[in-house]
Amino acid sequence: MSRVFVFLAALQLIVCGAYSQPKVDVDAQLKLAMQQYELMLAEHPDTKKFPQSIWPDGSLRDMSSDWWTSGFFGATLWYLHRYSNDPKWKDAAQKWTMAVEKEQYNTTTHDLGFMVFYPFANGYYQTGDENYKKILLQGANSLSTRFDPARGVIKSWDKFQNFEYPVIVDNLMNLDYLTWATRVSGDKKYRNIAIKHADVTLKNHFRPDHSSYHVVCYGPNGEVEARKTHQGAADESAWARGQAWAVYGYTMMYRETKKKRYLKKAQAIADFLLSHPNLPSDKIPWWDFSRPGEERDASAGAIISSALFELSDYTKGKKKKTYFGAAEDMLVSLSSDAYRTKLGEIHNFMLKHSTGHKPGNSEIDVPLIYADYYYVEALLRYKAKNEKKKISFFHQQP
Ligand code: GLY
Repeated sequence: MSRVFVFLAALQLIVCGAYSQPKVDVDAQLKLAMQQYELMLAEHPDTKKFPQSIWPDGSLRDMSSDWWTSGFFGATLWYLHRYSNDPKWKDAAQKWTMAVEKEQYNTTTHDLGFMVFYPFANGYYQTGDENYKKILLQGANSLSTRFDPARGVIKSWDKFQNFEYPVIVDNLMNLDYLTWATRVSGDKKYRNIAIKHADVTLKNHFRPDHSSYHVVCYGPNGEVEARKTHQGAADESAWARGQAWAVYGYTMMYRETKKKRYLKKAQAIADFLLSHPNLPSDKIPWWDFSRPGEERDASAGAIISSALFELSDYTKGKKKKTYFGAAEDMLVSLSSDAYRTKLGEIHNFMLKHSTGHKPGNSEIDVPLIYADYYYVEALLRYKAKNEKKKISFFHQQP
């Protein structure tokens, strides 16, 4: 009997030991990432041309600062600085952060979370530069001009088909910019907008199975005029990156408010994704859940991985392990040769096999700058968990 007990105890030790061993060599991946982004910097001498992706002929696709992804490069450089503490990354991050400075006044887009909050708040967190704070608060004001109290949501685009007030699920990603602005300024208006937008989106943007529509078009009194897609396969399909924004968005809104309804929504979306029969065994989604066998979207995989690491922190019991395990599996896949580029490959992006806008015949099976950003964020979150460190991220400051 006691021998059986000893055997079982030893077995448990082996199994638990194996379970707690990191499955991704984060330091090796970040070392490669730094080598790649050094080359990426050398390929980008002009701070008016932001790395975005590649064109179908394989040449580099750069964008200007008013494109929605302009903040990701600077924000990733800040993450590399945070990891390495090497001043060369700080210099590069400062340069590429200030390159989007003028977007603080941009009132024609809802994407100021990605464009302004990510680089400037990441930099403010690491340097305390008061100029960054000033720019951030101006940007939060610009974003707030797109909120309409009658509808209770921030307008995404100024027009979509015949609709005057389209809101896309991606818009959730701007909300921690607004909760941050309230914490820093003391003005409650930003946080109130964030909560209202999250609540109206929760009511109108989801199907009974917790999958998300891409675009909801609102009438003047907040009535839903149409539910559509722009980047997904069909109005009624689940576009992979839209689901990724949704699970990340409600996880972050739970972090920011501690309101249980956001946690429940984030968990329900995660459960939808992870139990979907079309989720591939490597857990990197097809670009749309209704299109198995077509292209993958590694950007969706990176966003979901990062979100699930955070969601596992807020979840108890069996599901905690499920979310952590899925996030880890995704990170293992992304770090494998199947998705991870080699040094010098594909213009020095870190990940391949993302899909930007398939119905628009644009950015299909390519690297995307934001896939790299969320990949690095997921690596840093995974590293902190493995080292049992409670590290906070720039979103959580001050
Ligand atoms: N926010 C645009 C996209 O996810 O493609």
